[in-house]
Amino acid sequence: MLNLQEPAEAQFRHVEAAAPVVAIVGATGAVGVELLRCLEERGFPLSSLRLLASPRSAGKTMTFKGQALTVEALDDDSFAGVDIALFSAGSGISRRYAAVAVQAGAVVVDNSSAFRMEPGVPLVVPEVNAASMAGHRGIIANPNCVAVIATVPLWPLQQRHRIRRVSAATYQAASGAGAAAMEELRLSTAAYLRGEDYTPTVLPHPYAFNLFSHNAEMDAESGYNGEELKVIAETRRIMDLPALPIGITCIRVPVLRAHAIALTVEFEEKVSPDDVRAILAEAPGLRLVDDRVANHFPMPSEASGQGDVLVGRIRTDLGDPTGRSVALFVAGDQLLKGAALNAVQIAELLLKR
Ligand code: A2P
Repeated sequence: MLNLQEPAEAQFRHVEAAAPVVAIVGATGAVGVELLRCLEERGFPLSSLRLLASPRSAGKTMTFKGQALTVEALDDDSFAGVDIALFSAGSGISRRYAAVAVQAGAVVVDNSSAFRMEPGVPLVVPEVNAASMAGHRGIIANPNCVAVIATVPLWPLQQRHRIRRVSAATYQAASGAGAAAMEELRLSTAAYLRGEDYTPTVLPHPYAFNLFSHNAEMDAESGYNGEELKVIAETRRIMDLPALPIGITCIRVPVLRAHAIALTVEFEEKVSPDDVRAILAEAPGLRLVDDRVANHFPMPSEASGQGDVLVGRIRTDLGDPTGRSVALFVAGDQLLKGAALNAVQIAELLLKR
């Protein structure tokens, strides 16, 4: 359990500084780099930015708004004067340092899975459950990337027609396993094309021209891996539907940075694909890509670099003879909406009165 002293509630409701000091923990990682870019592109009103990573990166420089900032090694003194700390250096670092940051007066937006299921730690997708942030005690969790990308379309559908059941199959990019996995995909693909052998060191299986069951730890008893179990638990928590039946298969595919998900949604009543399309066309954070004539639907290549989740292939699920199920296909940038962008949107909400 997270051991935070219970603060006066008002103390953490908002970040008081109009132009806060922001720190990025894991600034040199795949998500960290995107956090820097999102803060800059969205004009986040910060007064200064502190870049933190392992001692290996201390002294390196990264560019923010045209200025070179020096990366510092993370330690217990890193958070003095910091108002908002964006963590993206893995669960171990979050468990070790998030409470240190909170004690120093920062609000933590944590991209790891360390606190996502902790009571008192809101798990937030701004388009879905921004109101849940009101009760935070200094740490707000950024959800699993698949849970974010799936709930952006599921939530507006749930608001209009109650969802009875969800079935999902994922096509997950290398970026979810970090910068080193992205590099392994590049290097192993180049080696394959040269006709050379390549021994994987980051992921457990050959990645070039291959796909495999997600590399998260397998629960031998249930046959589900940790990624699948996270997506189920977090999707339920974000939408506040604790008993929603969700079936899922998570697969790692040789794509660099955007995840795709085939979703089948069973509703309580009959819902037409046109109705679903109209709801999703109006919903925040989504862009319809649904051109049957041109056979043009969401693709990782078009989702990469985009803040919106792409959604299309909206059709009746012929596997459900009752006509209550609709199938869709979504693609979202794992590093942006699935991680950095969602975290920065949460930080923006912290500044709102
Ligand atoms: P570094 O680049 O110095 O290793 P990714 O998810 O792409 O693998 O990135 C992980 C991020 O977490 C990197 O910025 C990495 O920094 C950072 N990190 C890893 N270990 C530590 C540590 N012990 N202390 C601080 N940051 C760390």
